[in-house]
Amino acid sequence: MPIRRIVLMGNPALQRVADPAVNPRDLARLAEDMRETLESIDANGLAAPQVEVPTRLVIYRVPASRIPQGARQEPVPWTAMVNPVVEPLSEQKTPIWERCLSLPGLYGYVPRHNEIRLTFTDLDGVRHERVAKGWHAMLIQHECDHLDGVLYPMRMTDITKLTFASELGDGKSFYSYSAAEFDGR
Ligand code: NI
Repeated sequence: MPIRRIVLMGNPALQRVADPAVNPRDLARLAEDMRETLESIDANGLAAPQVEVPTRLVIYRVPASRIPQGARQEPVPWTAMVNPVVEPLSEQKTPIWERCLSLPGLYGYVPRHNEIRLTFTDLDGVRHERVAKGWHAMLIQHECDHLDGVLYPMRMTDITKLTFASELGDGKSFYSYSAAEFDGR
């Protein structure tokens, strides 16, 4: 299975609204390639426009290794979401540090809804509904934004918090969360 090339900010593929998928089964090969692409770089989420396919498909997971001790969340196995729809369950937003494979080396502090309801179909066309909080909710909002041509800097309210990882100093990473931050508490 081929590893797909992930395009970077500035590529027109990241700027358009992706088309709804008509036949989820037709996306099985693409979904497999996207998962393998993520595994090859130990990453957790990717939207089809990032590999230059203008279709409403997202692949993501919440790995156990990403969940800080004391967080109230369970790992989520690899999930393929076709035509996902995000509905905020709370108007409250909390900023969280995030990054994107299409903006390598950067972190941004982005307000996201604390809790969302997510509906999607899987690759067999079966409908699913999930409630997600905190980091899980952020990841889904981030990935689904790609389907509408939105990159995280466009959601930022304080652009001074767009930061190169290389400026963070010795081994420090914004990508290490406290349990409360991870849960959106
Ligand atoms: Ni991204």
